Amino acid sequence: MDKQKELLNVKNLKQYFPIKGGFFGRTVNHVKAVDDVSFTVYEGETLSIVGESGCGKSTTGRAILRLDEPTSGSVEFDGTDLLSLNKKEMNQMRKNLQIIFQDPYASINPRHTVRQILTEAMEIQNVWPKEQRNDKVIELLETVGLGAHQADRLPHEFSGGQRQRIGIARALSVNPKLIIADEAVSALDVSIQAQVLNLLKKLQREFKLTYLFISHDLGVVRHISDRIIVMYLGKIVEIGDKKSLFENPKHPYTKSLLSAIPSTDVDKKKERIILKGDVPSPIDPPKGCRFHTRCPFATELCRTEAPELRSTDENNLDHQAACHHMEKFEAESLQPMA
Ligand SMILES: Nc1ncnc2c1ncn2[C@@H]1O[C@H](COP(=O)(O)OP(=O)(O)O)[C@@H](O)[C@H]1O
Ligand SMILES: [Mg+2]
Repeated sequence: MDKQKELLNVKNLKQYFPIKGGFFGRTVNHVKAVDDVSFTVYEGETLSIVGESGCGKSTTGRAILRLDEPTSGSVEFDGTDLLSLNKKEMNQMRKNLQIIFQDPYASINPRHTVRQILTEAMEIQNVWPKEQRNDKVIELLETVGLGAHQADRLPHEFSGGQRQRIGIARALSVNPKLIIADEAVSALDVSIQAQVLNLLKKLQREFKLTYLFISHDLGVVRHISDRIIVMYLGKIVEIGDKKSLFENPKHPYTKSLLSAIPSTDVDKKKERIILKGDVPSPIDPPKGCRFHTRCPFATELCRTEAPELRSTDENNLDHQAACHHMEKFEAESLQPMA
């Protein structure tokens, strides 16, 4: 992994969705789906975003691709400021940034054969000379573990796992640099999940791909990530390399997610943190630290002041979390007070 080159730079990204209401249909409030998020994706790495449903993962991915126009912030891809591009320029740019969804079936025409689906993407981005596109289709199918004989079948003739392979082939057909995989394996059975994850890893090596891998499941993310971002209610609460984050999580929310992963390692003593209550509404997020309403360690400071992302280890400055009490946890290996 080349840590030097920054492929994607997201700075202070905000996505506020207006809520219309009242007799005049005015904007009465906003869903603060993504609220001041900054991170960098390095070329060749897999950076994952995890967090419970509704914390803003998909919105982050969609804002990067401008599938929704972000409210503010900047998105720089390979030196280009994406938010300054006009519609045509952005469409051309999408060749470099592809997205794979949880359900590829939802985003493809069910009456088109696999061949049509794959050629369409090539036509839109005008990649590969016309006469080569048919050969490319076959090559792509083989690359993702399907066969030439499947090129003229319809999407419904495939299983979920195979359909996700078609989704991956379609993303690859335009030769992208970055793939945003949004819950790409979440709908699949565990054994099929592993196969698709292995395929993604293989393709990454083969085509020097960079992944932004979005999942609600920290267990899935564990296999594929180099680095991990943990989001809670529209904000990043922790970011770090996988090993450091798994072995030495700093944020109580990360700890709670980790303690929810079924562990086969029975001897390993795990700090169990069971969260109370539900995720609060992103329309009116809690003051101070957004996590304080569910945090077993919250103090008055947490209820009033929002913590910034910071490191507690000068030898690992890239591992950061946003919690006022990280040092205290490290010193005392705290148990919940409740
Ligand atoms: N187009 C939209 N309009 C209004 N609210 C939205 C829209 N898209 C997402 N949201 C809200 O933004 C929040 C974050 O959603 P999302 O990014 O889909 O979460 P995740 O992918 O982490 O499950 C949720 O509260 C969701 O309901
Ligand atoms: Mg989502």
